[in-house]
Amino acid sequence: MNIIQRIFGKEFPVILAPMAGITDEVFRLLCKQQGADGLVTEMVSAKALYYKNKNTGPILAYQESEHPIGVQIFGSDPELMGQMAGVLCQRGFDFIDINMGCPVPKIVNNKEGSALMLQPELAGRIVREVCRCVSVPVTVKFRKGFDEEHVNAVEFARIIEENGAAAITVHGRTRSQYYSGKADWEIIRRVRENVSIPVIGNGDIFHAQDVLRMREETGCHGVMVARGAKGNPWIFREISCALAGKEIPARPSDQEVIDMLLAHAALNVEKKGEKMGIREMRKHTAWYTSGMRGSAKLRKAVNQVETFDQLKGLFMR
Ligand SMILES: Cc1cc2nc3c(=O)[nH]c(=O)nc-3n(C[C@H](O)[C@H](O)[C@H](O)COP(=O)(O)O)c2cc1C
Repeated sequence: MNIIQRIFGKEFPVILAPMAGITDEVFRLLCKQQGADGLVTEMVSAKALYYKNKNTGPILAYQESEHPIGVQIFGSDPELMGQMAGVLCQRGFDFIDINMGCPVPKIVNNKEGSALMLQPELAGRIVREVCRCVSVPVTVKFRKGFDEEHVNAVEFARIIEENGAAAITVHGRTRSQYYSGKADWEIIRRVRENVSIPVIGNGDIFHAQDVLRMREETGCHGVMVARGAKGNPWIFREISCALAGKEIPARPSDQEVIDMLLAHAALNVEKKGEKMGIREMRKHTAWYTSGMRGSAKLRKAVNQVETFDQLKGLFMR
């Protein structure tokens, strides 16, 4: 049994990818209910953890029913990363994921996230130190490379493996691409062929069939779904049917979408209070209802909404 099977209890797990500002406790639960085999928190900064920044509290909150769940940490100081990973480990997470793919300038300028792909030796030291400090498997998520002139995912993966990572996730885009263009699945295949640890494929899974195709084309050991899950937790139930060789269920009806959106909002209010909970639902509502009749008008209206009842009112006929 490989480490992926041990963590997720599945031959080929389908994992909700970390997305800052999106994959909080509430959204993760909804994806889990629809069949996600694994979850990861939003990324959390080692420095922020060290300084006990209050924003880290909600990022680290999770429910027992979320297992198996990983926590994603980012930073560039090996000692601090190790120390903070050790602290996170005590919170009962099933694995620690290190972010080496974030493209955001604020992070990259600090030599964190995807900037580590330009410093493979330092990246290796971070992985080694984190592995030394924790008792759970350590995984690393990174990209194809920093830019087209520095496509080094294969060499980088080898260094990550040599330093003790249990598995890796490869997003088939460079840092320069951010989220644009088409993800390169060929690089995922090449990485998979060049390391012995399991490789999770990531990038451009928007439909259940994409998973079958990614598995076929790359030989990956599991997948992470990010943007395809926005406003669409049903993607997990569809993927799980596709993987089981069953008929893929019909897309949710408008009423099902509205019910999910309101359930999401109710949980959000419960966790974060009405003001913040409903404000956050503005973006989710736009995602849930995209493609629905009248969605443009709805998107405008939702930006004025402040309470749960006002949100619900938008869907009354
Ligand atoms: C809004 C947003 C936030 C993200 N936040 C994170 C993050 O915190 N950590 C991380 O490793 N990747 C993050 N990602 C990247 C995704 O996990 C994923 O690698 C990327 O979106 C490609 O997958 P996709 O094509 O399925 O969206 C984020 C992506 C988006 C769109």
